[in-house]
Amino acid sequence: MRTHLTRELAALGVGAQVTVCGWAQRRRDHGGILFIDLRDRTGIIQIVCDPVREGTFARAEEVRSEYVLSVTGVVRLRPPGTENEALPTGAFELEATDIVILNHSDILPFQLDEPGVGEAVRLKYRYLDLRRPQMRDNFLLRHRLIRAARRFLEDQEFTEIETPILTRSTPEGARDYLVPSRTQAGEFFALPQSPQLFKQMLMVAGFERYYQVTRCFRDEDLRADRQPEFTQLDIETSFLDQEAILSLAETLVQAVVRAAIGVELPLPLPRLTYAEAMRRFGSDKPDLRNPLEFVDISDLVRDVAFQVFSAPAQDPKGRVVVLRVPGGADLSRKAIDDYTTYVAGFGAKGLAYIKVNDPSSEGGLQSPILKFLTGPVVREIVARSGAAAGDLLFFGADRAPIVNDAMGALRVRLGIDRGLLADGWRLTWVVDFPLLEYDEASRRFQAVHHPFTAPKGEDWERLVTDPGAVRAQAYDLVLNGTEVGGGSIRIHSRPMQEQIFALLGIQEAEAREKFGFLLDALRFGAPPHGGLAFGIDRLTALLAGTDSIRDVIAFPKTQKATCPLTEAPSVVSPHQLAELHLRVDVPKV
Ligand code: AMO
Ligand code: AMP
Repeated sequence: MRTHLTRELAALGVGAQVTVCGWAQRRRDHGGILFIDLRDRTGIIQIVCDPVREGTFARAEEVRSEYVLSVTGVVRLRPPGTENEALPTGAFELEATDIVILNHSDILPFQLDEPGVGEAVRLKYRYLDLRRPQMRDNFLLRHRLIRAARRFLEDQEFTEIETPILTRSTPEGARDYLVPSRTQAGEFFALPQSPQLFKQMLMVAGFERYYQVTRCFRDEDLRADRQPEFTQLDIETSFLDQEAILSLAETLVQAVVRAAIGVELPLPLPRLTYAEAMRRFGSDKPDLRNPLEFVDISDLVRDVAFQVFSAPAQDPKGRVVVLRVPGGADLSRKAIDDYTTYVAGFGAKGLAYIKVNDPSSEGGLQSPILKFLTGPVVREIVARSGAAAGDLLFFGADRAPIVNDAMGALRVRLGIDRGLLADGWRLTWVVDFPLLEYDEASRRFQAVHHPFTAPKGEDWERLVTDPGAVRAQAYDLVLNGTEVGGGSIRIHSRPMQEQIFALLGIQEAEAREKFGFLLDALRFGAPPHGGLAFGIDRLTALLAGTDSIRDVIAFPKTQKATCPLTEAPSVVSPHQLAELHLRVDVPKV
């Protein structure tokens, strides 16, 4: 139907006879001459229709926004002064000798170049939303990214293997999506939260190097970086230790980032232990573009009269930190109150501060808490925080998890509000996660990653003496403050697996019922194995520079896990319900 794409016209040059196909993005009437911007998947070319060609001109007059056209014509230079430098074809235009209208279009519910169109409308007419150049570019980037990952892994002799979507519950810890079975009355499949158990069994099967670009399903509370179905680049290997897996994975990320946005990441990527990340940033996914860091002052305030500080400083589970805001002495009372309200949302009981007008004298400090602290303590705090004239110090004092959450969130917010974030791509591994965390509510340990994660060899003995202090062979990859991947070395020995289940309070019978098939597999010569999974949507969204992963998923769900386009989920017929042995007891309003 067409001889050329619009992007090829510039190279063909003046005088070429071509037929192009696409959509009429805009039609303009300039004193009798009609111009049509014709858009195809590669770009835009300006079509010129001269009234001397009567038939063609008449057809051009019929053209409306988003009509589908085939245009035959001759490439020529635009008159001097009318070039459009924003377009690769902007120096050229196509003088139309024939126009065929291939299809009409109703008036669009929104203009493609209209800013601020509501997301409900965008998702309902997603096929129109996807016509917008920014959206198209997001999907081209996503495509380049996945293609580069496949090429890299294929060069490394990885085999792509698909795993079931209709399966049993998997252990990633979110709520499952369930599918009722017609043939087994009263029983349900679960959609996989990840291919975790299957990829481990593929290692037992001897594939050694597996990967898959696969959909995962988790019924969780949704946010900008969470969708109920999302895509993982899932990887598992045998006979590689953590070092080898991290090195392979970061070379893969380097190749993917190069292909997606043309940036060359320096390797090796930096590493932070979980403990260091929490100590310095209060977060296991710190944004390293943000220069702010916590300074611990627990030792300085153990014995001060100010209970707010001394109590958590003396509590082994407590923590007192300072966050220095460069130039922050200009913060108004109202701004400080707003930050206090903000940290309260994370459980902080207050947000003490000191304005440092002049660090060299006590008179140069301004704060409601000075009266509770002695001169030498204040001097030490100011010195340790590195405060200079014009800075402000914020204080967090409480149990460590609250301080970390609240002051960690404050650090992120200050980074944005005060324009402190450096440009570029800051990746880091976070390693040595704790294996277990104690859940006060159930009074039990829970797996931090999942229950098949191996402890660090040097921590084995602590499984008995101090389980909470055992570190895992688990790792996350963090890009600009977002967790874009994570994985672990798995337990491949049956006794170790049983010991972990015992610690997690998972009884033999429960373990059999939930993961019996995996435990069986581990009995038949399971190799040492481990791997990781990247969140493709998150990685793509970051590299595309958008805040929401919905912008890089062709047909995403809303925050309420619905699809405005298909109106899924929907009610089904009584007949379908009966076949599935289901009765619905929610009155539909
Ligand atoms: P994990 O649960 O950490 O690990 O998931 C891996 C990566 O997937 C992304 N991700 C999500 N992206 C969008 N929406 C969601 N709801 C969502 N949940 C997770 C994140 C995350 O880093 N089986 C293990 C991997 C392994 O151990 O090999 C797993 O699924 O970027
Ligand atoms: P108060 O004596 O309760 O008025 O508190 C004095 C100052 O300490 C106020 O600025 C409070 O915001 C602050 N503050 C109270 N509790 C905490 C806390 N847990 N961490 C940090 N600052 C606090």
